[in-house]
Amino acid sequence: MNILLTGGTGYIGSHTAVVLSQLGHKVVLFDNLSNSEETVLERLAQITKQQFPFFNGDVRDTDLLKNTLADNSIDAVIHFAGLKAVGESVAKPVDYYANNVQGTVSLLQAMQAQHIKTLVFSSSATVYGQPQYLPLDESHPTCATNPYGRSKLHIEEILNDVAISDPQWRITCLRYFNPVGAHESGLIGENPSGIPNNLMPYIAQVATRQRTELSIFGNDYPTPDGTGVRDYIHVMDLAEGHAAALNFLTQNLGWHAINIGTGKGYSVLEIARAFESVSGIKLPTIIAPRRAGDVAECYANPVKAKELLKWAARRSLNDMCASTWRFQQSAEKRENSWTHE
Ligand code: NAD
Ligand code: WQD
Repeated sequence: MNILLTGGTGYIGSHTAVVLSQLGHKVVLFDNLSNSEETVLERLAQITKQQFPFFNGDVRDTDLLKNTLADNSIDAVIHFAGLKAVGESVAKPVDYYANNVQGTVSLLQAMQAQHIKTLVFSSSATVYGQPQYLPLDESHPTCATNPYGRSKLHIEEILNDVAISDPQWRITCLRYFNPVGAHESGLIGENPSGIPNNLMPYIAQVATRQRTELSIFGNDYPTPDGTGVRDYIHVMDLAEGHAAALNFLTQNLGWHAINIGTGKGYSVLEIARAFESVSGIKLPTIIAPRRAGDVAECYANPVKAKELLKWAARRSLNDMCASTWRFQQSAEKRENSWTHE
């Protein structure tokens, strides 16, 4: 298949590009580089021994998208492009609706114009809001607690309307839990600019002494050790989930929402201890107040993915921490070599 990845130079997009190309697909990347760097392309070439066609553009540029789809004979799109920081979305809701919702509408217009009707969308477990029961299955009621989550929910609903309007569409919304880790080469991974919002990249920066200590946001939750529990999923498992979703769509029409998680929750303390154990570095930690909007526990029921996609996560917490650490060390080396050039 010829597959366009919007947001293809980003964290999850770049790992998915590796998996899809290794399965023999032709992968085309489209990204406005608002949260990624063009140097990812060189590192992707190092890993896969092939050069990916890359288009530097915004998904809201419908004409550019139309031409990219047509010129590359695209059969299916995976739509990663979007903004993803919950706190920032509260401060800048218009940016979030413009990038995420308007960007998706523009993509749908371009796909419709080119009669391309196969789409995998990057949704999020955030669409479940405050869990009413655990593990979270896809029938759990949806609810947004911030503009980022609301943008994902709106997009899911728009995609559902599109699939109802035309039964030729094949759409899967993958609801990711907490993606972490990196490709085993250490060449690509998650490298947030500024202070990381998420736990794993923050831990990685404490380990390299870019941050002085890890603040644990609350140790009085009703969880086994009092710290928040999440379903962390290795980004390479997640990437393979996209290949499985595309395969599923070759056989199935309509709109589908599917959880992509492991089904197992780990606490903040368990993650910190696992990282210490793989890196051999003691992480200075302090207990800080709970972070606004956080829930005590969140983890997936991954049965639907297993049944429909024939996919299940297989990498361990140790793999997640070890690959994060490898990537963080090589990213630091790259940055140091640039500053010394
Ligand atoms: P990322 O920021 O690394 O990747 C997103 C990419 O999209 C970036 O390269 C960015 O430059 C690009 N982009 C943003 N707006 C664009 C636009 N208007 N036009 C073109 N390109 C644009 O993020 P990621 O972690 O790889 O996330 C990918 C998708 O998965 C996002 O939609 C995100 O909301 C979703 N998601 C991520 C997580 C997570 O924790 N990482 C969890 C659930 C869902
Ligand atoms: C995990 C746990 C924190 C940082 C977010 C988004 C969600 C999804 C994934 C996109 C929590 C604790 C964190 C720190 C800490 N993204 N923590 N100290 O909040 O589950 O999910 O990313 O769709 O929408 O909300 O992930 O990594 O921020 O936090 O103690 O410095 O780590 O309180 O318990 P979260 P996270």
